[in-house]
Amino acid sequence: MDKLIISGNAKLKGSIDVKGSKNSALPLLVSSLLTDKDLILSNLPDLEDINNMQKLLKEYGVSIKNRKNEITLNGKNIFNRVADYDIVRKMRASILILGPLLSKFGEAKISLPGGCAIGTRPIDIHLLGLKQLGAKFQIENGFVIGKVNKHLIGSNVNLPFPSVGATENILMASVLAQGKTKIINAAKEPEIIDLANSLNSMGAKISGAGSKVILIEGVKSLKKTNYQILSDRIVAGTFIIAAVMINKNFKVKKINPHHLDSLIVALEKMGANLKVKKTSVEISPTEKLKGINIKTAPYPGFPTDLQAQIMALMSIVDGDSEIKETIFENRFMHVPELNRLGADIKVKKETAYIKGNRKFKGAPVMASDLRASVSLVLAALCANGKTVINRVYHLDRGYEKIEKTLGKLGPKIKREKI
Ligand code: UD1
Repeated sequence: MDKLIISGNAKLKGSIDVKGSKNSALPLLVSSLLTDKDLILSNLPDLEDINNMQKLLKEYGVSIKNRKNEITLNGKNIFNRVADYDIVRKMRASILILGPLLSKFGEAKISLPGGCAIGTRPIDIHLLGLKQLGAKFQIENGFVIGKVNKHLIGSNVNLPFPSVGATENILMASVLAQGKTKIINAAKEPEIIDLANSLNSMGAKISGAGSKVILIEGVKSLKKTNYQILSDRIVAGTFIIAAVMINKNFKVKKINPHHLDSLIVALEKMGANLKVKKTSVEISPTEKLKGINIKTAPYPGFPTDLQAQIMALMSIVDGDSEIKETIFENRFMHVPELNRLGADIKVKKETAYIKGNRKFKGAPVMASDLRASVSLVLAALCANGKTVINRVYHLDRGYEKIEKTLGKLGPKIKREKI
């Protein structure tokens, strides 16, 4: 296990090019199970979750060739099996293989997945959707076992909540299903559009991705494609918040700022000085920032994946703030750790009350989930003195070696083995 040692009062200069989105790349990699032709993906981020997903797909016989930022996957020789629990438990996105396996083999057995400990994160909506397409499920000894009578059959699937993962699972399952599928109350995240665009470039017939209703007309097979993964809006948002906190001129490039509208609105309300361009956001210093109230919501609302980061910022601005977390019930694990660094945050049910005008002071802290970990990095960058962040495993799942990416831009960050 590694730890990060971060010197406080960091400087930040220059710009950063944001790489491909982890949350887009994961389902795109999985979609290789649906085709026996090459799937070539570029702009792949170098992350632990991406490595784990490749390991998982290799277990199913997907052949994988890696070249720098590009990866070629081929699912011609895939076979059905039970995936290694050790991989599945590390990554909730493993459940995304369920739909494609049912579609290809008519049966699948997967252990219930793990991932960040940010809530109970059930898979009932995934199962409900796949049931509508004709699958039957049993949960036994920690495994979900699915069976289909011959083929998945297109149908109307009404989701009780616009779950991102469930929408992706059902979308992938229905691409080769017989007939038409309509996903109602689908998730509208940009990563859903990315998946639909890639599948369409493989010959799928999907329309409406990015809206509440997605229509899929089943096709017999998919063809070869070459697809560039969307840039990571959460990594982009994290760097924008970092620059606002450090209060220096900085540019976050190779992004689609439109995907960050809710963050940009919130930061501008706080008084941040942002220039939004076509593929970048420029941050300039500002005299005074003030607290605001926000709540997380499905896209296009404020992303839960940026909640911990903006909370770190809220601690050092003028006045108090509130954040209501409506997506995950246990996503305030960064609060005690931010408080150890000098924040004054109290949580009551799903709302965090953040006192402003605090000054972070370096201290030893423990990283819990992925985005919580990076909020500690942001606080540490602005702190007086040295912060040691233990258990950075989760950080590596979603941010490319942060000591290098950020380290190049001014901050002093060192990684050590514990
Ligand atoms: C995805 C993202 C994650 C992000 C989340 C919400 C990936 C790999 N991860 O996670 O970074 O924080 O979207 O934007 O893309 N739920 C159920 N039953 C289900 C499925 C979900 O109750 O079957 C609940 C979850 O417990 C959670 C909420 O729905 O409270 C949202 O989950 P969902 O949108 O599915 O998130 P993920 O796809 O897991």
